Amino acid sequence: MRIGVLCSGGDSPGMNAAIRGAVLRGVEVHGFEMLGFMDGWRGFHEGDAVPLDRSAVRGISPLGGVILGTSRVPPFPGGRAEPEALDRLRSRVAEYGLDGFLLIGGNGTQTVAKILADAGIPAIGLPKTIDNDLGGTDYTFGFDTAVSIAAEAIDRLRTTGESHRRCMVLEVMGRNAGWIALHAGMAGGAQAMLIPEHPESIEQIAEWVLSVRDRGRSSLVVVAEGFTLEGSDGEVTRGGDDGFGRPRLGGIAEVLAPLIEERTGIETRATVLGHVQRGGSPTAFDRVLATRTGLAAADAAHEGRWGTMAGLHGDRIEMVPLAEAVGRLKTVPPERYEEVRLNFG
Ligand code: F6P
Repeated sequence: MRIGVLCSGGDSPGMNAAIRGAVLRGVEVHGFEMLGFMDGWRGFHEGDAVPLDRSAVRGISPLGGVILGTSRVPPFPGGRAEPEALDRLRSRVAEYGLDGFLLIGGNGTQTVAKILADAGIPAIGLPKTIDNDLGGTDYTFGFDTAVSIAAEAIDRLRTTGESHRRCMVLEVMGRNAGWIALHAGMAGGAQAMLIPEHPESIEQIAEWVLSVRDRGRSSLVVVAEGFTLEGSDGEVTRGGDDGFGRPRLGGIAEVLAPLIEERTGIETRATVLGHVQRGGSPTAFDRVLATRTGLAAADAAHEGRWGTMAGLHGDRIEMVPLAEAVGRLKTVPPERYEEVRLNFG
């Protein structure tokens, strides 16, 4: 069997461990021939591919980034899966002699995996995103690493903030879901965690910051990039994209910090964590989750379980139909937000 491996979307710590798991199980146990396409669909379109075998994946689990590279290049021209585009892709698959794909990616990539599988082009999904916003799995690899980095940033901001009696605002990633903000904020004991799922007003945020000051402390506010700030005049300011569907980091923190300062009279500084939270070596948790995801995906390919995704359910990796994973953004449920909101301020 000849299997193509491809990474798409933003990188996520653990992708190398996932590739290693899939290759060790696929090549060594099932006797697959495996081919890794460079920079996602770009490598597929341009014939830029490398053989994946034991030596290619030696020692890669602790490495950040991904050895194959990744990109947001779409599989179909203009991003549209027209019948002719699918036919072109199908004949390219035949030219490579591929029996199927392992596609490592987030929401967009898993949607593509489903389109391919539905069109009879065998594909299996390996879910990854630091945002943890993918359905069909409890956690995605990369999330734990991002949370650890963000929690460390909170610890560091806390000491400088306290020294200057300042309010510190930390913006973390999360365009549509606030998982990183919620978990990092909880781990770091932040006084407010502002997430896309729950808009808040500047009056409310200022009240929290002032109540912390009244107890003689300095506030640490974590805000997800996609948070929506409600104005008293009914106007909303939403972070997270530049109006053209592209991510825009830093937007909401830069709006929020001066407003907090203006409302509270407390000197406020904004920090945008940005891509730091996506870089560097994955945590042990992410390496284990990613490796197990890779092993399960290779087994599923061997068993011909195409059109599925290797999701974590409790302690087990289970193959779930892609239809159950895609188009279902996994957002923070109200009870998880309420759990922490009651302690804000
Ligand atoms: O991987 C998802 C994500 O981390 C989002 O939270 C963020 O909006 C986006 O990636 C940033 O992407 P890029 O690296 O393309 O700027």
